[in-house]
Amino acid sequence: MTQTARPTVLLATFSALPDGEEWTGTTHLLDAFAAREVDARWVVWDDPGVDWSAGLVAVRATWDYETRRAEFLAWASAVPWMLNSAAIFTWNTDKSYLPQLAADGVSVVPTIVVHDADRLPAAIAEVSPDERLGAVVKPTVGAGGRGVVVVDGPGPTDREAFGPGPWAVQPLVESVRTEGETSVFVIDGEVVSQAQKVPAAGEIRVHEQYGGTTVAVPVTDEAADLARRTVTAASALTGERFDYARVDQMRLADGTLAVSELEVTEPGLYLDVLPGNAAVFADLVGRRLTNR
Ligand SMILES: Nc1ncnc2c1ncn2[C@@H]1O[C@H](COP(=O)(O)OP(=O)(O)O)[C@@H](O)[C@H]1O
Ligand SMILES: [Mg+2]
Repeated sequence: MTQTARPTVLLATFSALPDGEEWTGTTHLLDAFAAREVDARWVVWDDPGVDWSAGLVAVRATWDYETRRAEFLAWASAVPWMLNSAAIFTWNTDKSYLPQLAADGVSVVPTIVVHDADRLPAAIAEVSPDERLGAVVKPTVGAGGRGVVVVDGPGPTDREAFGPGPWAVQPLVESVRTEGETSVFVIDGEVVSQAQKVPAAGEIRVHEQYGGTTVAVPVTDEAADLARRTVTAASALTGERFDYARVDQMRLADGTLAVSELEVTEPGLYLDVLPGNAAVFADLVGRRLTNR
């Protein structure tokens, strides 16, 4: 008699967090898989000992890819079965996708991609023509708020202030300091939850490691509509199906809501404040495991 292996999901993380983003409540995630009789285990993406054909791979906390992007994408391309796809990761791990979404009519934080450092001052002046407004310069390949630099006004820019390029140059969206950044989760095409993230005083980065706070909020029609439109446009641009997405949004000075980041590679699920995301994510995995 042959024994059927239990359906398995491999949760890809990185070596500094071998048990994933556990402080955010990943026990919710593991419990949700257990309740669905899915075997789930954390695996480190660059661990040569992992058999990647052992199940469906869900990229979760691979938060060192920004310095090893080519290696990460080569790994993803070699994984036989995963949520989202290597093609999506290739497109999404470079913030150059933001102007592409804008060109498709999606409301996006205005973004100029700069490859040559000599072009930075002109790009900064272009996104921030008024001296009272600031600009943000960040690496096109970046994560966790690393390398984000605030430029106050269009004055002379010291090249040394920035890390390696290319860079995404944007206006400083002032409302981030008060209203913060909104995240909408779209799982298997459905808007499922929303969180609001606010930075600490004097910071613009909303991430917890810089003192930011995240709370669950009811889904708003405005943010949900923008999230859906963004995922639809991204799907059309890449020709890929998006299993999961987190659409980060900020309110521009003219009052419109705009996409600041589309996270379709390794979005934190904010399980500490949105524990319900665990069941939704586990259901997604369950459906893919059943319908392979
Ligand atoms: N143009 C901007 N205006 C205001 N805040 C910004 C801007 N760009 C980035 N930030 C802040 O910095 C954080 C990190 O930038 P983000 O583009 O999300 O990159 P990462 O991929 O590192 O998360 C954002 O969550 C936000 O708090
Ligand atoms: Mg971000």
